[in-house]
Amino acid sequence: MADIAVLGFGARGTIYSRIAAEEGFRVVAVCDVNEERRHAAKRILKLKDDKCFENAEDFFRQGKLADVLILSTIDATHYEYAMRALDLGYDILLEKPIALTLPEVNGIAEKAKATGRKIGVSHVLRYTPFYLKIKELVDSGVIGRVMNIQQTENVGYFHYAHSFVRGNWHNSKETCPMILAKCCHDFDILLWLTGKSCKKLSSFGSLDYFTYENAPANSAARCKDCAVSASCPYDAYQIYSARPTWVKIPDGQEENWENAKKVVDDNSTFYDKCVFRCDNDVVDHQTVNLVLEDGVLASLFMQAFSEEVYRRVQVCGTLGEINGVMEENRVELNIFGKGKKQVFEIGVNDAISPHAGGDRLLLLDFMKYVESKTASFRADIDKSVESHRLAFAAEKSRLENGKTIEF
Ligand SMILES: NC(=O)c1ccc[n+]([C@@H]2O[C@H](COP(=O)([O-])OP(=O)(O)OC[C@H]3O[C@@H](n4cnc5c(N)ncnc54)[C@H](O)[C@@H]3O)[C@@H](O)[C@H]2O)c1
Repeated sequence: MADIAVLGFGARGTIYSRIAAEEGFRVVAVCDVNEERRHAAKRILKLKDDKCFENAEDFFRQGKLADVLILSTIDATHYEYAMRALDLGYDILLEKPIALTLPEVNGIAEKAKATGRKIGVSHVLRYTPFYLKIKELVDSGVIGRVMNIQQTENVGYFHYAHSFVRGNWHNSKETCPMILAKCCHDFDILLWLTGKSCKKLSSFGSLDYFTYENAPANSAARCKDCAVSASCPYDAYQIYSARPTWVKIPDGQEENWENAKKVVDDNSTFYDKCVFRCDNDVVDHQTVNLVLEDGVLASLFMQAFSEEVYRRVQVCGTLGEINGVMEENRVELNIFGKGKKQVFEIGVNDAISPHAGGDRLLLLDFMKYVESKTASFRADIDKSVESHRLAFAAEKSRLENGKTIEF
């Protein structure tokens, strides 16, 4: 059985490690700059001190420590670490985005080819039973020729505030455009479901709401000092008391609101920053129109303003249509003129694996791909590069006021 090292033991690295351990794979080394996270790795994976590295230099200096590297540090580090890991001979399960620029994305893909190593990109949606069902229906021809496909990514008002106003992905200069961070999965799904490549696209979008000009009268820099927090849905105390596990609590402490509140209260953390007074610059709504091969039209809409976090998809063919919301794990098929829709309830019951069960299935398939000479992987880097190419093009179009980008 192939074994695993994890670089970046944050939310994603922990999920994959827990799944790997549960599935009988050995996670033999972890590297994370954060001491709390290293403690967590020792506790969860029963690792000794000398297998927990506090920086990438020390980690890479050891040479190749495992067959597979799960690379789940923050976006800006992916290029350098992926290139170094390829030099050492690791196969890599790489978190999206592959890297922050298209030349870097291509550079990693080319190096993987040159070194004969395998890279899987974590396009977990391709592995969800929900999207697999839709793919099966489209490929069966039951809805005829596909004419249009629409995907909406509803980020959720609280999730958007957490990740894209206050947290890790709030500033595109430090990370990447939101259409890449959030939607490379969606571009990938549009291409995969239709089996078509993209001929041209255009995009519009902006940051319109989470700006200084929209700060309510009597609000303050921190929610704890704000006179109007009770009427603000973005109030950190409302958001995190309902989701205490979203707060990075010191390792060993119970993940409850009492402990989370101490972290939210701490002014050195970002959690209770006013959403109208952050140095965020990523869009809060964006639309992309795509013309695919054979005249298929696709559209992608990403936006912050929804009560829940959910992806809605509609595939329209000449004989019928498919509709679904991933988080409901329910696919509806309407064949024209039959007067009755068919509903497929997709049973997913996986407490560790978010993304409707996709993380576990993706990891298992990647390990099979690494261990076998013949297996293929549904989300290998060559396929993923295409989705990144579209995301970079969409951002360019948006910045150029919707200019059409042709491929
Ligand atoms: N596939 C998906 O659907 C999906 C979902 C969320 C995030 N992601 C991606 O996964 C990656 C990690 O995201 P996350 O949510 O786990 O973030 P996170 O902040 O929870 O975890 C990142 C971890 O990397 C560590 N780290 C940062 N810089 C490091 C360095 N130079 N060396 C070693 N460790 C370092 C941090 O201390 C942290 O523990 C990101 O690239 C993100 O875009 C993918």
